[in-house]
Order: sequence, then C-alpha cells, then structure tokens
Amino acid sequence: MRIDKYLADAGIGTRSELKKAVRSGRVSVNGKIIKDSAMHIDENADTVCFDDVPVVWRRYAYYMLNKPQGYISSTNDSGMTVLDLIYENDRDLFPCGRLDKDTEGLLLITNDGPLAHQLLSPRHHVDKEYYVKLSRDLADEAVKEIEEGIVIDGGEKCMPAEVKRISSDECMLVIHQGKFHQVKRMIAAVGNEVIYLKRIRMKNLVLDEKLAPGEYRALSQQEISGLKEQDNL
Ligand code: URA
Repeated sequence: MRIDKYLADAGIGTRSELKKAVRSGRVSVNGKIIKDSAMHIDENADTVCFDDVPVVWRRYAYYMLNKPQGYISSTNDSGMTVLDLIYENDRDLFPCGRLDKDTEGLLLITNDGPLAHQLLSPRHHVDKEYYVKLSRDLADEAVKEIEEGIVIDGGEKCMPAEVKRISSDECMLVIHQGKFHQVKRMIAAVGNEVIYLKRIRMKNLVLDEKLAPGEYRALSQQEISGLKEQDNL
C-alpha cells in the first residue's frame, strides 16, 4: 500500500497534506526518514512513524452519518448519494443498509464487509429504532397490531415491533427486520401515513445528537466494539 494512503487511512491528514509532510521529512519507515509519498510499504510488517510517533493503521473505517433528506443510500447513482457527503471517500466505503431518499438519521458508512453482513443479515434481527411522525393520530388498535406482528401488503407478516408513543401522532418504533420501506408499509397497513422518518439507533449504535443532517463522524472504539458484539445478533 502507498504510504500516503496508509497515513490518510490512519486519520493523520489528507493525501495532499501528507505529500507535503512526507517531503518535509516528518515520516519514517522502519526508522528511516522517507521523502517519497508514493513509496509502497507493507502495512502488516513495517513500522511507520509520523513526527516520531508510531502510526496505528486501521484496516476498516467506520463513520456515523446523520443522513439528510434528498440523498440516496447507494454507492453510485446519477443523483446525490450519501457517499458524496463523506470526505474520506477513497476507502471503498459503502452505506450499511438503506434509508429512503426522504428518510433522515443514522446511517453507518464503512468498508467492513463482514460486519455489514452480520448487521444486515435477515437471520440476525438487528434492532432499528425510528422516530415516526404520522399524518393522523395513531389508534390503540394500530399499536396492538404492530406490536403483535402486522401483515403488510396483503400477505407479508412482519415480526412483532415495539411502539413507544410520544404524542397522538408521533412515536418511536423499533423493528427487527429490514424489509423494503418497512416502516412506511407497516404504518400504511394500519391506515395511517408516515410524513417524517428518522432513524435513531441501529443495534446499540445511537445517532449522535450533535450531528446536524449531512454531518458525520468516526465511530469511537467503544461504538465499533458494541456493533461487533455477538449477543444481539
Ligand atoms: N422504513 C422505511 O419505510 N423507510 C426507511 O427509510 C427505513 C425504514
């Protein structure tokens, strides 16, 4: 791997910043100052230091994005994709799961394929929690149907979900599957309509309230470990 990519992956700076840093002698490989940012190193064997401090390289990158409306959860599209919001977009990143174009909130952006597979596998029933604003009041009977496992589109039965009322026409909804447009279809099945949808949580990863729509940040080590825990999978 090229040394500038290695350093960028470790979060030391951008490729152009690193080019300058390498040229000015701030980077060493196995104790020897290097000057060529295109040099290739072995990320599993070489010791790289930046300003004499050993660099910790990460194979995978993990970001929490507060997805704004108007962006598509895909890696390539003629429209705006969520990856257009990520500055560090040179690590084969992809969104872990999909939110509709008009849905906001928590989206994990990563290049960790095995973790994404675990989190998205229909066998694992990972919790997804949404804030839902409805066009009409949510009836008690509708809550009961959703909590017991509602049938959508005249035949597809959903797993029981949890509803926490916030007001007459707002609730938090926890689902354990990831069917296409699932929340909107569940709500439509009880004769109501979603007018605003925001994902707040996936498994134990909670959207950071400090992130405005369109902002993102790297996950902490604790958050990454939480997602990798096997108990809820
Ligand atoms: N359910 C939906 O209907 N839409 C989303 O974006 C996510 C879950």
